[in-house]
Amino acid sequence: MRIGIVGAGFIGRAVAQIALAAGHEVMLSNSRGPKTMSSVLAGITGCQIGTAEQATQFADVVLLAIPYEHIPSLPSAWFEGKIVLDANNYYPDRDGHIAVLDTFQTTTSRLLAEHLQGATVVKVFNAILAADLLTDARPHGSSERRALPVAADDADAKALVVGLLDELGFDAVDAGGLDESWRFERAKPAYCAPLDKSGLEIALAAAEREVELPLGSWRR
Ligand SMILES: NC(=O)c1ccc[n+]([C@@H]2O[C@H](COP(=O)([O-])OP(=O)(O)OC[C@H]3O[C@@H](n4cnc5c(N)ncnc54)[C@H](OP(=O)(O)O)[C@@H]3O)[C@@H](O)[C@H]2O)c1
Repeated sequence: MRIGIVGAGFIGRAVAQIALAAGHEVMLSNSRGPKTMSSVLAGITGCQIGTAEQATQFADVVLLAIPYEHIPSLPSAWFEGKIVLDANNYYPDRDGHIAVLDTFQTTTSRLLAEHLQGATVVKVFNAILAADLLTDARPHGSSERRALPVAADDADAKALVVGLLDELGFDAVDAGGLDESWRFERAKPAYCAPLDKSGLEIALAAAEREVELPLGSWRR
């Protein structure tokens, strides 16, 4: 699979590494362009670099991993017809306040899908620390294998992502559609918690819409 990554920060680089290790083709991009990315590639063998537009056009699947505040600036035409893996989280202190998120009226992924009309959004990779992607991946069938939550409105796209996660070393739990993805947004019990499949199912079920855990309580 060709995976184009928009955002060459912690999460973009970590997914690039495990995807390359699993035999996928990867192109990383940032906001400033390929000339600024030579240091990014240190330790990531076999990764291509390009502009953000090139990464989207290269891709069968696009991973979007940028600070949430920059999402409105993305040209939606780049993502037309693409499956977009939404790893993004909303941190008001970093991203500025977004009233419909502060008041729990919608989800980060629903807002993204509304911006990227024509793309198929799948929420995934937002609820694991980047460093854990490198340390917690395990082969299929391993006992206590870590599971990651996935949400999407499109069943085929969701199934494709569940298969991709399995290749990359993780089980998956289906958390429903994009309107249910709040169950594993920031400050919910499933957020960045190292859980196996049954533990993650319990954490997703325990989430309450308007209850947030203390900041940073999910860090090990
Ligand atoms: N870090 C984690 O452990 C983690 C885990 C799960 C989810 N997340 C979420 O994933 C997202 C990224 O987090 P991060 O920690 O990886 O961020 P980061 O290390 O700060 O990196 C952000 C990257 O996004 C790029 N970027 C910003 N605006 C862009 C644009 N308009 N077009 C293309 N690239 C753009 C930046 O490029 P420039 O440097 O050129 O501006 C940079 O490469 C956030 O929403 C975060 O909450 C993070």
